Amino acid sequence: MKKLGILLSGRGSNFEAIAHNVQAGRIPAEIAVVISNKEDALGLARGRQMGLTTRFIPSKGKEREAFDQEVMAVLREFQIDLVCLAGFMRILSPYFIREFRGRILNIHPALLPAFPGEEAQRRALEHGVKFTGCTVHLVDEGVDTGPIVCQAVVPVLDDDTAEALAARILKEEHRIYSEAICLLLEDRVRIEGRRVLHKR
Ligand code: GRF
Repeated sequence: MKKLGILLSGRGSNFEAIAHNVQAGRIPAEIAVVISNKEDALGLARGRQMGLTTRFIPSKGKEREAFDQEVMAVLREFQIDLVCLAGFMRILSPYFIREFRGRILNIHPALLPAFPGEEAQRRALEHGVKFTGCTVHLVDEGVDTGPIVCQAVVPVLDDDTAEALAARILKEEHRIYSEAICLLLEDRVRIEGRRVLHKR
């Protein structure tokens, strides 16, 4: 059985959607550990309630590499195959990326490369785009720059608020994150440069 490691910092709704699909047998893996750098993260509490193994690893006041080392030690301890960032509000060090290259996924609430970084939904709305969405991508050394695995398009409505738009995007996030996880775990993609292509 393949092993997923979830890294989160907050609400954890993407984690919950993944956990739900794992439970339902739609993702051929188990969630071996849920790690949060925030003690009060809702996602961490939900993980505990689900009976999953959880770890709180504080990041505050720590050097990036020192924190990353601690996280990596836990991921190694549980022999994690795939790391899923699910609202994890930390930039990972190149060291971490090298160690898990091609095995770290992130979800971003915009159609990358548009609107990387924070508050992507609000910035898309204010920019006036007619379509936005979400992206699951492999993590590289940049911020939201790695090869794109899955995307979903969400139209922007005239009377949208940032919150309403974010909620519709979130629904799609919950769907495509599991899809991307399956693609990687089942070895159904090949990577050519920046392009993640379906194996035939
Ligand atoms: C999501 O919008 C995700 O795209 C972004 O952070 C948010 C996390 O939400 N990276 P949740 O914690 O999964 O509910």
